[in-house]
Amino acid sequence: MTEPVHWRHNDFDSAAVGLSMLTITGWRDAECVGGALPQWVRDRSAEGWNHASVRVPPGHVTAIVALEDAGFRCVDSLVTLASDDRGSWEPDPRVGPCHAEDHAAIQALSVGAFELTRYARDPWMPAGAADRVVAAWVYNNLNGRADRTWVARVNGIAVGYLSSLWRPAERTAVIDLIAVDRRCQGMGLGRALTQAMVSHYRDAARQITVGTQAANASALALYQSCGFRVIRFELGFARPLQMASCSEDGTASSERVRETLGRGR
Ligand SMILES: CC(C)(COP(=O)(O)OP(=O)(O)OC[C@H]1O[C@@H](n2cnc3c(N)ncnc32)[C@H](O)[C@@H]1OP(=O)(O)O)[C@@H](O)C(=O)NCCC(=O)NCCS
Repeated sequence: MTEPVHWRHNDFDSAAVGLSMLTITGWRDAECVGGALPQWVRDRSAEGWNHASVRVPPGHVTAIVALEDAGFRCVDSLVTLASDDRGSWEPDPRVGPCHAEDHAAIQALSVGAFELTRYARDPWMPAGAADRVVAAWVYNNLNGRADRTWVARVNGIAVGYLSSLWRPAERTAVIDLIAVDRRCQGMGLGRALTQAMVSHYRDAARQITVGTQAANASALALYQSCGFRVIRFELGFARPLQMASCSEDGTASSERVRETLGRGR
């Protein structure tokens, strides 16, 4: 009997991007069910889904070949790092808690800041998708998703921020989003934000992690200079399924997303 491909509808991506997007949940699927992938692609396309993605460790050549044979293409590479340095640092007076009046500045400096994410690099994302994803992501973080957000200020103005997640069951803290205004990069603000975060979770967390793209040299340099070490490396693969017509701002296909949201698997 052929193993089924396990997948899920990615609600957040779909709503923000304006396409109905699926995630194959686990690279082993691609390895174990390589022969079934082309049929899976045909079936999901016939159902009207728009886009599929999966993450695979780079050494798993069987899975990668199966994905490429099924029309998937590598669109990004994700590096996960974990902190093994909980050194004590002097608090930087430029960093403090986030207030409601900082939200607009945080949204503004996030536009275009994350140009290496899969949303920005995937050739099948509609125009403007990366900015819509970041805007929704930042909004959610500032409105309850993030455990905390720290802000870096210069002359009283928010020029950088870091939002963290806290997973109590695993006692894991995650740097979820960090950005510093281009005009203020290289001034040690990214480091000050990261150190404030690590200091906050130092005692409670068993692990502090962060994910970034292998091509993000400044983020990798920042995390490594704060004591983070690489623990995982994955390649991101994607392919279009049945592509819906999509307007500049994704509104046309949002109808389709709403339609497919209610459909289940
Ligand atoms: C990543 C980012 C937050 C770094 O912020 P920053 O304020 O410029 O970083 P800092 O000035 O605190 O630098 C911290 C360390 O990283 C190093 N670094 C920063 N940018 C670097 C670059 N482009 N190349 C090499 N090293 C770099 C610095 O040399 C410093 O190390 P050191 O103190 O040992 O010399 C910033 O570049 C940014 O906002 N990027 C866009 C958003 C983004 O990619 N976020 C990460 C998503 S995972």
